Amino acid sequence: MLRSVSKTLKFKSFRVGVSKFSTSSIFRTQAIPDASETTATGQFVKTVSKPYTVTTYSRPNLVLTHGKGSYIYDLENRKYIDFYAGIAVTSLGHSNPEITNIINDQSTKLLHCSNLFYNLPAGELANNLVNKTKSFDGMSEASRVFLCNSGTEANEAALKFARKYGKSIDEEKYEIITFENSFHGRSMGALSVTPNPKYQAPFAPLIPGVKVANTNDIESVKKLINKDKTCAVIIEPIQGEGGVNVVSTEFLQQLRDLCNENDVILIYDEIQCGLGRTGKLWAHSDLPASAHPDIVTMAKALGNGFPIGATMVSEKVESVLRVGDHGTTYGGNPLGSRIGNYVVETIAQPEFLEEVNKKSQRFIKGLQKIADTYPDKIVDIKGKGLLLGLQFDATADIGEIVSKCRQRGLLIITAGNNVIRIVPALNIPDETIDEGLKILSESIGEVCT
Ligand SMILES: Cc1ncc(COP(=O)(O)O)c(C=O)c1O
Repeated sequence: MLRSVSKTLKFKSFRVGVSKFSTSSIFRTQAIPDASETTATGQFVKTVSKPYTVTTYSRPNLVLTHGKGSYIYDLENRKYIDFYAGIAVTSLGHSNPEITNIINDQSTKLLHCSNLFYNLPAGELANNLVNKTKSFDGMSEASRVFLCNSGTEANEAALKFARKYGKSIDEEKYEIITFENSFHGRSMGALSVTPNPKYQAPFAPLIPGVKVANTNDIESVKKLINKDKTCAVIIEPIQGEGGVNVVSTEFLQQLRDLCNENDVILIYDEIQCGLGRTGKLWAHSDLPASAHPDIVTMAKALGNGFPIGATMVSEKVESVLRVGDHGTTYGGNPLGSRIGNYVVETIAQPEFLEEVNKKSQRFIKGLQKIADTYPDKIVDIKGKGLLLGLQFDATADIGEIVSKCRQRGLLIITAGNNVIRIVPALNIPDETIDEGLKILSESIGEVCT
């Protein structure tokens, strides 16, 4: 039954693609509305996907089918510039040929073997992460890695490891400090340190002992931290979902000092801002070693779309861990680990990171031009590297701007508090940056004037 539906849809999409939407250039002088109910897309969404998928997402009528580099295509054969990279994931672009080769080759060797035995790629990835981190100015105490399958899982492991550390000192040392506007994931532990009432309220009660401070406000942390009770502080050096908010170097140093004074594990969640996104291997690579964390969590870019996460810890954390404390069936599987190795090897190169910085400058220049054109609506350009945000004032309808961009051939996303977020592939070509910014500017013009 399903097979026959998809056969029909394929035929329909082919006709639509050829007759109506094939474009040599992305830039569409006129916005093309999202696919209607009578199209292959509309039919697929209405009859195949939506009625059988749980209601946790709101999505436009858009079915993505394939991508190449920084371009992505839908079922109607429309082509889009990709400024969101699957939410900061496909950092080396879609259909990266080297990753395709790895997937093909590894699939003929060993996809999975569980953690009951060693496998080559997982060991190499752990080794590579620690050594590349140290040689690229990251976490000076990096020592060991736990491999898992997502950002949420990486944070879950970090929280458990920190609790284990605290409880190794005193049973009551289990409290965790997190920050307003942070995002750490949706499982019960990660959600408990994600203080957004919209996400938390339906699932309360959450895990006990979580306190919420304000970033860049060390006094707010001092009020909550307690040597006898606090085991961990978790923070994104740049908040992604929360609105592309860069945390100050001074604050992170003060936080580290406070953690030292109180024997508290400091966790940097670099799931969105890490692995080259800021133009350094880690967002915290900009900080002096004296402000480095005890744990770094990562995911997203590490698999370029293959689900993988990792929790990198210091020897201090490792020293409290025992066999059986934590585990996962899929974490550290040979396929994901081999992809992760390729990603780390590619990103951890000075020339690659230099290019990210150049592309960032190009974006910032373009965004500044847009901000100057709409000074009443755009109040700030935020972020670092290729994690950038356009802060709009409260009157701007950024949802509408995103829709207009999509209809003109640009996929772009938002972040907390009326921000348009830009997180493209780290190797996005310069001309694609320019073309995408042109669409963004036109779309803002359409909505804001
Ligand atoms: C900073 C940060 N932490 C954690 C997560 C959760 O990661 P995942 O969706 O892979 O579970 C995200 C996802 O957006 C994130 O941006």
